[in-house]
Amino acid sequence: MKQAWWDPVRDRIPCPPLRLGIIGGGQLGKMLAIEAKKLGCVVRVLDPTPAAPAGQVSDHQIIGGFFDRDKLRVLAEASDVLTYDLEHIDTSSLHALEAAGTVIHPSPGLLEVLQDKLHQKERLAAAGLPQPDFIPLDTWDEHVVRDFGFPLVQKSRRGGYDGRGVVILRDAADLGRALEGPSLLERCVAVEKELAVMTACGANGEIRTYPVAEMIFDPRSNALDLLLAPARLSDELARQARDLAEQTAKALGGVGIFGVEMFLSMDGELLVNEVAPRPHNSGHYTIEACRTSQYAQHLRAIAGLPLGLTEQHTPAAMINLVGEPKAVGRPHIQGLAKALTLPGVSVHIYGKHEVRPFRKMGHAVVLDADPEQALMTARHLREILKIHGENQ
Ligand SMILES: Nc1ncnc2c1ncn2[C@@H]1O[C@H](COP(=O)(O)OP(=O)(O)OP(=O)(O)O)[C@@H](O)[C@H]1O
Ligand SMILES: [Mg+2]
Repeated sequence: MKQAWWDPVRDRIPCPPLRLGIIGGGQLGKMLAIEAKKLGCVVRVLDPTPAAPAGQVSDHQIIGGFFDRDKLRVLAEASDVLTYDLEHIDTSSLHALEAAGTVIHPSPGLLEVLQDKLHQKERLAAAGLPQPDFIPLDTWDEHVVRDFGFPLVQKSRRGGYDGRGVVILRDAADLGRALEGPSLLERCVAVEKELAVMTACGANGEIRTYPVAEMIFDPRSNALDLLLAPARLSDELARQARDLAEQTAKALGGVGIFGVEMFLSMDGELLVNEVAPRPHNSGHYTIEACRTSQYAQHLRAIAGLPLGLTEQHTPAAMINLVGEPKAVGRPHIQGLAKALTLPGVSVHIYGKHEVRPFRKMGHAVVLDADPEQALMTARHLREILKIHGENQ
């Protein structure tokens, strides 16, 4: 085993305090890297795209894929702690690195469980957590699907993100849209609201949970369109949602920040949808609106430092800035100057070199003491801020 990188008893750290390795150079890695640089850490990122968003703000970027054993080893050898900003990584390499002494948070064993939606649901079911009923569908069998009953949700076990790998089959006429490959079938919930709660788990078992965020989806792309935090819920439901997120995080037993997505059903029931073992799109607002951002918190957790306050000081609304439906090529931002004249607005542009339809290119957060006003400004922002391609 490598030595712990700092001694909490003496509380004295030689600089640079930590060499952080991040697998994945997207926007989540970028915002984590920025936090790590604030503390004077050395940051290395592994990503196949040269000058990836996180690479732009890190000390080094290793160009390589997430299944490249050699590049993962190079990153591990140069890092005191490894983490990741996506789930689609070769866990057999991570297991080997961990066995050789690399500190990896959250652990490769947990990542492996969460990578597979079926294993994830089985783990949560074993802990007695409420979720929609599900069954595995290893190979396509129309009888099994019909017997399960419509409407249902079919989900690929692996590799899905931003709603890809998820189809809602309303009736038998939708069977032609079913997904291929190993999947699971899930009861379609009559959803009143989609919620997300970020929960941080420290190395010493400490848990800190953020306010509940409410997600509103874009029916065209199935991606998050608008987020409001805190969610418009009774105090009792908000407390239950935060408790459920904590129980979920505890059941998983990892170190780091976890994004717990939930449904509030029309019957008033809270159900866990899925868990991400990393900072989450729905937690971007914490940068501007909370005492400690989800990125700073993740860094504290994986570095074994004390966790920070999760309290939200101002209501916030957030929009994703995604590529326009036909945008391709070099991105062009329309409306930035106008957006920046609106009160309480912060705009983040991730620095991706190419736009594609609905690709996440940035986000904007509005802080306002009046949450309805924050929502209105966010809706206005969505009208004026557009990410086009060079073709438009
Ligand atoms: N059981 C369900 N009942 C109703 N709607 C569902 C159900 N499961 C998923 N959905 C809808 O599909 C969306 C995407 O599902 P899910 O979060 O499982 O997939 P994902 O591809 O991992 O998404 P993302 O990467 O955007 O979080 C959900 O946010 C929700 O709107
Ligand atoms: Mg999801």
